[in-house]
Amino acid sequence: MKRIAVLTTGGDAPGMNAAIRSVVRFATNNKVEVMGVFRGWWGLINEEMKLLDHRSVSGIINLGGTILKTMRCPEFETKEGQRRAFENLKKNCIEGLVVIGGNGSFRGAHEFYNRYKVPSIGIPASIDNDINGIETTIGSDTAINTALSAIDNIRDTATSMERIFVVEVMGRESGYIALQVALAGGCEDAIIPERKFDFEAICHDIVEGNIRGKISWIIIVAEGAGSAEEIAKKITQTTSLETRAVVLGHIQRGGRPTALSRTLALKLGQAAVDYLLKGEADKAVALSNGEITTVDLEVAIKKKRLEVDKLYHLIKILT
Ligand code: F6P
Repeated sequence: MKRIAVLTTGGDAPGMNAAIRSVVRFATNNKVEVMGVFRGWWGLINEEMKLLDHRSVSGIINLGGTILKTMRCPEFETKEGQRRAFENLKKNCIEGLVVIGGNGSFRGAHEFYNRYKVPSIGIPASIDNDINGIETTIGSDTAINTALSAIDNIRDTATSMERIFVVEVMGRESGYIALQVALAGGCEDAIIPERKFDFEAICHDIVEGNIRGKISWIIIVAEGAGSAEEIAKKITQTTSLETRAVVLGHIQRGGRPTALSRTLALKLGQAAVDYLLKGEADKAVALSNGEITTVDLEVAIKKKRLEVDKLYHLIKILT
């Protein structure tokens, strides 16, 4: 291969820039040119791309977001969108693709491979850590630490003013962030999409605790499992205890990547190019027990089953 392309698609995740840096530097060191595609699949369809050299990825290792920009692109789900993308790949002599993103991005890469057989390797990057067969995605550690730092601050007020807080974290379909921060933040409960939530039991626990003298509570809710505003209002109505809602929102997605998110990105970036040059395709690279491995994109795009029971149990027995 003489020229490959790299793109970031779907929601941005901290560490994407470190992955881009790794892809560009490892490829160019191996005399392979790298075309950076802007705004994910959209840039491939609309031919928005430019060659990236060693220097063009300097000073980005510590930056959140993605210098290549990103978006979700429904047009790429159409035959016509993929045909235009393929024409632009041919026109620009691009022989392989590195796709940095989440399961939506991998679905696009898999379909595109099935239709046009352009070799592509996925690098898992998503704050939700919801890619099947992959232990840890780039960005999830950063998002957890960002949310955790906010929750630690909220804990100060919860304790000082003896209040109940319901904190909404990201995760439309995944309770991963919610469970991790609830455990690491010493929170009293976590409401997640993977587990039926018993509002009566939560209120019962709060009232019981209150009788024993426990007054401050932090309940984490994943955005896909309910609204912090509504749950807080209902808790106040049911228990007569002052309850506040906090929605952390997109502050969890940006920011300086942690060392873990960066090193994962750097390792996977190098591995993705390595596999592509060895003739592999239609796979995602991953780290498993410290070793680089691959997962077929066909497997990676299946729904990941999060093991919630043990973690939830641990949160509850430690409150
Ligand atoms: O997939 C990452 C994620 O941040 C989810 O946790 C969240 O539900 C979704 O993206 C939000 O997407 P958007 O920024 O497009 O509203």
